[in-house]
Amino acid sequence: MHGLHARLPKHFVLEERLERYADVIEPAPTAWRGAWAEACHPLVPGQGAASYPRVVLDLGCGKGAFAAALAASEPQTLVVAMDAEPICVAYAAQHVTEAGMPNVVVVAGDGSRLPEYFSPGELSAIYLNFPTPFPRKREAARRLTSAEHLMQYRPLLAPGGTFRLRTDSLPLYRFSLEEAARAGYQLRWSSENARADFPDEPWSEYEEKLSAQGATVYAFLATPGPAPEQLAPREPRSLVDYLPQDLADMGYVPHGMEATVVNMRNYEAKRRAKVGSPRS
Ligand SMILES: C[S@@+](CC[C@H](N)C(=O)[O-])C[C@H]1O[C@@H](n2cnc3c(N)ncnc32)[C@H](O)[C@@H]1O
Repeated sequence: MHGLHARLPKHFVLEERLERYADVIEPAPTAWRGAWAEACHPLVPGQGAASYPRVVLDLGCGKGAFAAALAASEPQTLVVAMDAEPICVAYAAQHVTEAGMPNVVVVAGDGSRLPEYFSPGELSAIYLNFPTPFPRKREAARRLTSAEHLMQYRPLLAPGGTFRLRTDSLPLYRFSLEEAARAGYQLRWSSENARADFPDEPWSEYEEKLSAQGATVYAFLATPGPAPEQLAPREPRSLVDYLPQDLADMGYVPHGMEATVVNMRNYEAKRRAKVGSPRS
């Protein structure tokens, strides 16, 4: 989780944590490619190998609240909770262990490399909650909703499988809708207030935190439609291009764009003052 290192509790020893919760952590996810449903199912005495009927991915799971709540509401589903940051893996593993959820496995992995961890059709759903927005143009390729990433996810989804985004960021939501269309996904629904539209959905830590700061949740659910023959190349875009025209009207500023919006507002205020001031 970005910026978390600075806020680590005083006596936090990462290795110790990872070891303490090792039972629910899979540090080498490539080993289970194609075998998650069987490998993670608890042994059923006298019944031989059993298997989960559904495997879903919580991509960039953070501290694991969403994965644990989803697993509690769907005991027949295996939830793979993945994060690239070892600290998040440790926190998520602690959360899952304390919640006592048998159907969650916490994985250290990179969302840019999903085809190494999952085989075609292995996932029934990919949940992407409040992904790191990477607003700058030069970081655009790292956004987990870029068309290039969405193309990678397509084959991993089972028939009828879904990709769902939730974010506090109107710019990231708008960008991601465009990218989903480029990658040939069909929208099942989109919402500019997903908490109101789907009040029973589990909360993630970021949704809790950012909603308390005034965020609205933008979300969509999409499923792969006919694949584009070739992904047409596109210039990387800054998320600034997706901000509303009039920043003065914008109440809540999306996470990760605070400094940019402050700068843009100052610039605009100066420009207006200059235009308005009489010339000597
Ligand atoms: C803003 S946090 C949101 C966490 C959680 N989903 C939530 O809603 O509370 C974004 C998370 O995505 C993770 N992340 C960013 N890029 C990633 C990648 N390429 N692969 C896996 N995780 C990634 C970060 O480490 C961080 O934990």
